[in-house]
Amino acid sequence: MSQPAPDQHILQFSTGFDVFLRSRVLPLIQAETVPAVFEPVAYSLTAGGKRLRPFLVYLSAGMPESGPVADPVLFAGAAIECLHTYSLIHDDLPAMDNAALRRGRPSCHRAYSEWAAILAGDALNTLAFELLARGCPESHLGDLVRVLARGGGLAGMIAGQALDLTFEKQSKASVGDSPGGILDEIHNRKTAALIAAACEMGAVLQDRPRTAFAAYGQTLGLLFQVADDLLDVVGDETALGKKTGADAAAGKLTYPGVYGIDRTRARMAELCAQAEQLALALDIDPESRRVFASLPAFVAERAQ
Ligand code: IPE
Ligand code: IPE
Ligand code: MG
Ligand code: MG
Ligand code: MG
Repeated sequence: MSQPAPDQHILQFSTGFDVFLRSRVLPLIQAETVPAVFEPVAYSLTAGGKRLRPFLVYLSAGMPESGPVADPVLFAGAAIECLHTYSLIHDDLPAMDNAALRRGRPSCHRAYSEWAAILAGDALNTLAFELLARGCPESHLGDLVRVLARGGGLAGMIAGQALDLTFEKQSKASVGDSPGGILDEIHNRKTAALIAAACEMGAVLQDRPRTAFAAYGQTLGLLFQVADDLLDVVGDETALGKKTGADAAAGKLTYPGVYGIDRTRARMAELCAQAEQLALALDIDPESRRVFASLPAFVAERAQ
């Protein structure tokens, strides 16, 4: 069965995934916590992100030919989406990027308060691991926890965020002659590590060899963040659901900031070709391989 174009495919998946979030995950949170935590958590989780990371879990776990997506895939997808949403809530805080808009709505701390946003992020971080424990087979739990913690934790996203903020407002001179190395490390850690984890988690669930999936996800993730930097310069605020021009205003170390638009696009073309090669090397059925291979161009050309 041939698959729809990536944008349609992600949209189809996210429609079902959002039903799962609303019907299975939100009630669980509501039953266990207090409104001061539930409300900002629900606000941020249901604000309508692209759901790229759960989609990658689903792809890497092998899409079912027909019928519903298996519970462990949905729980693992929800786990990584919770961790990602936590990273966005904290990323927007005044102490980090101080962003007013996220997913087309006031950011969590603007809609609620700083303390509520901090706690909502904390709650989503731990909830991620609880969801794995609730919905994924015990035989795979250790690996799933390790992969998610590594990509989203101190070795991955958190280290990347720390480097991103460390290098904010530093002069070009202070990053030396080759800022590209630092930039790649920031982007690889803050964004690509979690996207790689999404691909690896799906492979874990399906007992597939994991390294090739992680390598594909790492390159796709690096491309994703370079595209995010470019969209901050040339993108449309309404489509993105977040303010543009924020990186330059904050003095962030970004690809367009260091290399300009043309070289950023050239780097994206390079990463796109690399990710496509890595997709074609995956030992999976040809139809799934085609879907993996179509994602880099989608990520590079996205407006959202
Ligand atoms: C935004 O991620 C943060 C980055 C890593 C660039 P997404 O662009 O995937 O955000 P949502 O989930 O669709 O809102
Ligand atoms: C965010 O990078 C990466 C995270 C770990 C959240 P950005 O700060 O560039 O993401 P946006 O542009 O605010 O979504
Ligand atoms: Mg940031
Ligand atoms: Mg930000
Ligand atoms: Mg950005």
